Amino acid sequence: MKEAFYITEPIFYPNADLHMGHAYVTVLSDILARSHRLFGQEVFYLLGNDENASKVARVALALGHTPKEFVDEQTRKFKVFYERLGIEYDAFVQTSDKNNHWPGAILMWQKLMEAGGLEKRSYTGLYCVGCESFKTEKDLVDGKCPDHDKEPEKIEEENYFFKLSAYTERIKALIEKNELLIVPETRRNEILALLERGLEDVSFSRPTEKVMGWGVPVPGDPSQVMYVWCDALVSYLSTIGFGRDEALFKKFWPADVHIIGKDILRFHAGIWPGMLLAAGLPLPKTIFVHGMITSGGRKMSKSIGNVIDPIKLVEEYNSEALRYFLAREISPFNDGDVTEESFKAAYNANLANGLGNVVSRILKMAETNLSEPVEIPADTIPEEFKTLLNNFEVQKAADLIWQKISALDERIQLTQPFKLVKEQPEAGKVIIRELVVDLYSIAQMLAPFLPDTSVKIETLIKNNQSPAEPLFARKY
Ligand code: MSP
Repeated sequence: MKEAFYITEPIFYPNADLHMGHAYVTVLSDILARSHRLFGQEVFYLLGNDENASKVARVALALGHTPKEFVDEQTRKFKVFYERLGIEYDAFVQTSDKNNHWPGAILMWQKLMEAGGLEKRSYTGLYCVGCESFKTEKDLVDGKCPDHDKEPEKIEEENYFFKLSAYTERIKALIEKNELLIVPETRRNEILALLERGLEDVSFSRPTEKVMGWGVPVPGDPSQVMYVWCDALVSYLSTIGFGRDEALFKKFWPADVHIIGKDILRFHAGIWPGMLLAAGLPLPKTIFVHGMITSGGRKMSKSIGNVIDPIKLVEEYNSEALRYFLAREISPFNDGDVTEESFKAAYNANLANGLGNVVSRILKMAETNLSEPVEIPADTIPEEFKTLLNNFEVQKAADLIWQKISALDERIQLTQPFKLVKEQPEAGKVIIRELVVDLYSIAQMLAPFLPDTSVKIETLIKNNQSPAEPLFARKY
């Protein structure tokens, strides 16, 4: 039986269209999912939409649609987006899905209730709809949420509270022992510092009428719907069968990794482990936290005019170029910058030149001088590459591929097989065959990153052909 590998990315709020930040986390997750498939594991890769947010209902109603019509339409659009980026996911969760998601959300609620983790309290607080979370005065800058530059709404209501504070010490111990591994170290330290100060109880439901009746109803109390983060986090369980298909759930839970952005670390390394502990479920093994994408050093924003549309780049270049840029030119552990200039420069240097060039040179020599295709050994993927990807080192794994591309270039310069083969045909052919085998290994390593290019190169090698046109045309 194949070893299971369960990977999730955050489920996105569908109130607005997807942008470069979403493209980034999705490409990163897809590369990891494809890597584990390549290494022979049975992968389940989850993505989807976080639909039960009040901001989603507000936008829908403003556009004259019911929330359900709107989220279904957004889902269709997002699926097209993923297709254009070459994303191969196993499930697309919609949290408005009453058959597949709600049973899990309801079961989690019941488990929290049974464990004494929930309590009804009356509450006064400040709520930021952008974050979909309550804020304290110390979270605000000049009375506004710093992430959304908006004053939060004052809310007075009765709701259920999740007694998260009680789990602070257990969560801290699990993170300290790396039983819940937070990657990278800087984020691990950040969350440990937060846990040091102690977690606060969180409001876990909203009055039904205040959220336009939109959300998962609290079992046994129709006056309340679940807090959106409560049901959203449970999508990681419900999609693999929690509350619905025990065998599937057992197969894939605990998750091998949740991929998230640094802005939602608290929810994933605070609230989520608290919920799982309360419900008596195992914690995910790893939380991988990436940085934010900026453009020209600034947050992308329509008013600054520095928004770069990932689909526009796919249309001008192709999806492989976008995947390359996001995986190789951006460090997953820090904020990363993309501008049209840096994109073009990286494309020309490393795809049109680097990779494209080496493929043409080697396959031209092979086609001209070898009478039949080169025999390829079974597994040509280096262990080092597997280790890097097993440790979520996407950028370093891509660096390794391009180091190998440079090494091939150097070898061609040094040995000049195109000349040698004229003077000493057999010695020349030996080198050309070795170059083809190394190129095949590069093609295999490219599979998770540039899946189409990988197949193209492998096919050319198997047919002993050179590309009819450059794999990546130079851009001017
Ligand atoms: N719905 C919640 C997640 C629930 S998971 C159970 C959410 N959605 S979101 O649509 O606002 O953001 C989803 C992800 O996109 C987050 O991981 C966030 O970090 C990421 N990004 C949003 N803008 C980004 C950048 N500019 N750069 C990189 N990632 C960014 O939060």
